[in-house]
Amino acid sequence: MNDKPVILTGLRANNDLHIGNYFGAVLPMVDSINRLDNYQFNLFVPDLHSFTTPIDHTKLKASVYDLVTNYIALGLPIDNSNVLVYRQSRIPAHSELTWILSCFTGFGEMRRMTQFKDKATTTNDVVGADLLARDHNLRNLIQIIAELGEDQRLQAEQTLRGFIHQNTLLGVDKASVGLFSYPILMAADILLYDAQYVPVGEDQTQHLEFTRDIAERFNSKFNQEIFVVPKPVRQQYKFFGSDQGLRIRDLANPKKKMSKSADSDKGVIFLSDSPERARKKIMSATTDSLGIINYDYEHQPGVTNLLEILKLFGGEPKDYINKTEYGSLKSRVAELVVDFLSNLHNKRLQITTEEIEHMLCESENQANEQAQSTLNKAKSVLGL
Ligand code: ADP
Ligand code: TRP
Repeated sequence: MNDKPVILTGLRANNDLHIGNYFGAVLPMVDSINRLDNYQFNLFVPDLHSFTTPIDHTKLKASVYDLVTNYIALGLPIDNSNVLVYRQSRIPAHSELTWILSCFTGFGEMRRMTQFKDKATTTNDVVGADLLARDHNLRNLIQIIAELGEDQRLQAEQTLRGFIHQNTLLGVDKASVGLFSYPILMAADILLYDAQYVPVGEDQTQHLEFTRDIAERFNSKFNQEIFVVPKPVRQQYKFFGSDQGLRIRDLANPKKKMSKSADSDKGVIFLSDSPERARKKIMSATTDSLGIINYDYEHQPGVTNLLEILKLFGGEPKDYINKTEYGSLKSRVAELVVDFLSNLHNKRLQITTEEIEHMLCESENQANEQAQSTLNKAKSVLGL
């Protein structure tokens, strides 16, 4: 057990961070580090997790450094002894515990993870994949087909077979086993450090619940508290407060959240965007034709999102409410974002690779020790 309760989170280095990640994930973490002295913060880069879906491996190393550089430029203190920043791949215990836990995880349990279904199928044949994923629908369909006249039935059966074949070929069957079982790696990430608090977005809550289940199962099978069970999702929300609910929207499509996996980057302000590029994106943000600025996500998601961004960057939404000039709201938001990005890019220039390397290696030594000690406990009850 660690002396201080552990707060742990991992941000993938696959893509550049955007201002949503900054306000929704990095800033709350930096604030908590500065505010709470009685906790240990594990901020790690899940780099083994980065290639559960295909990536360009020549870029992975640089993007890990880039992410850590951003953390520091965004205010993460580098000399706070409560903070560990490490690469998952540098701590062998993550892989070892993943294998162990996978032998205590049901195949059906993994198959129920909705993110696998989403990720395995989004770029492929969603219709066919959906059919397979929702078995009861498939059964209904087979029932309907069985009741058709012979000609129609043969034709429908052939079409259905085509769907399933396509799905199997393009979707689920082509997804890696790593993508399928990665929630087990995520459970290892959390359990190795006795982490109780794990701030995760909605798409990760199922994985956190799984982590709790596998920890409880293992402890009860061996009748010992090998793993600390992380707090339930409800308590996580209570602990981390409203930050978890914050969702900056996409500027071009304000009905959707800003996301690195958006179809187009027109509405996403990346931290690496040049100030001019960011200004252009803001000036061409989608608004509406109502002609008056109001805080109303339902009817005016575009302007409301701009008001929200204005507030987050320290501007005054009330100066613009009930005004008619969308252009001046956009200009003000652009001005604040341009300042923020210029400042950030300057700070990044002052951070050296040696500094990052040093910070990672120090943390990795400590993380290795903690992780190894938990792994040893598990190995010993396994008879290893
Ligand atoms: P993305 O959708 O860009 O892939 P992730 O799902 O990887 O982002 O989320 C990483 C972290 O950033 C999470 O903590 C999530 O809550 C936060 N986050 C992501 N998008 C936004 C957003 N648009 N507004 C606020 N926070 C966000
Ligand atoms: N699965 C998370 C994501 O896709 C990243 C992650 C991996 C993580 N391991 C973790 C987050 C452990 C929190 C705790 O965003």
